[in-house]
Amino acid sequence: MAIETSCDDTSVAVLKNGKMLANITANQEIHAKYGGVVPELASRDHEKNILKVFKEAMSVADIKLNELDAIAFTQGPGLLGSLLVGTSFAKSLSWSLGIPLIAINHLEAHIASLYIEHSSIVFPFISLLVSGGHTEIVLVEDYFKFKRVGATLDDAAGEAFDKIGKMLNLPYPAGPHIDRLAKKGNPKAYSFTYSKVPSFNYSFSGLKTQVLYFLQDRLKLNPQFIEDNMENLCASIQHHIVHYLLKQVEGAMNQFGVYDIGLVGGVSANSLLRKEVEELSKRYSGKHMIPSFEYCTDNAGMIAKVAEFKYHQKEFVDLGVEAKARF
Ligand code: KG4
Ligand code: ZN
Repeated sequence: MAIETSCDDTSVAVLKNGKMLANITANQEIHAKYGGVVPELASRDHEKNILKVFKEAMSVADIKLNELDAIAFTQGPGLLGSLLVGTSFAKSLSWSLGIPLIAINHLEAHIASLYIEHSSIVFPFISLLVSGGHTEIVLVEDYFKFKRVGATLDDAAGEAFDKIGKMLNLPYPAGPHIDRLAKKGNPKAYSFTYSKVPSFNYSFSGLKTQVLYFLQDRLKLNPQFIEDNMENLCASIQHHIVHYLLKQVEGAMNQFGVYDIGLVGGVSANSLLRKEVEELSKRYSGKHMIPSFEYCTDNAGMIAKVAEFKYHQKEFVDLGVEAKARF
């Protein structure tokens, strides 16, 4: 059994002999009205939800407590208050059932989300990990042998979608709204410049400022500018973010001579990004792998997948283990 509570999703999964028997996730709606995740409220909601989600996962998986072999949990990185809820719950279960405890790195788990549905993985491949909290390019040399070759120097790609979406008066999280509205817009309507950063890193804070000043200028001339041009704005911003993401990925592919791509994390739900990743890999005669939506956003299924490997290696931790906001 695996537990994930690193940010604002409370999730419990049950994995048996490689088969995902349950992967139940409760999303916290409460943050929408604040325009972002409020850490204090997130940990309170995990506390409220965890037992319900746990019971539902047990019921969907149709297993009994005494059938569990080990308990895995997200140790970090994430919001400390949120991580503590899952960590304490996992420790209590491990102690009371007398079964091993397994600590999992959330970012490794996002990459392992690819292993849930793709059984024949060929290494190495380049993984683009894009979520609300992280944006990284990782060279995956073996199941758990990773080399981080690039990362954002400031905001994550999902954060850029959400913060720019807020400027457009879209609800939080804005990523899915931008994706939907962009479908009817012209991606070339407005153009923004890329932040130049060394090697395969990213910087999204410059885009945020550019869009802010651009909107301020246009709103002076037309107070309805955003409403009148919403679809074109969304299409242009999405186009910019996706092309920036893939420009750096393509650089890393050429540098390392690796042409298979894995796309993971919540932003991998973006329809343009999924399409463009497929096209990029095809251009280099490579393969692409993208998990289904339930394994893209934060979920315990991916935690369970890493735990399966660690269980066989007997990589257990004792009850003194602590949650870690950063690694
Ligand atoms: O992985 P995730 O569920 O949580 C974090 O660990 O952050 O990712 C959430 C992020 C949010 O920023 C959200 O706006 C973004 O993923 N997102 C999208 C789409 N669906 C979710 N961004 C762009 N297009 C989407 N369709
Ligand atoms: Zn995540």
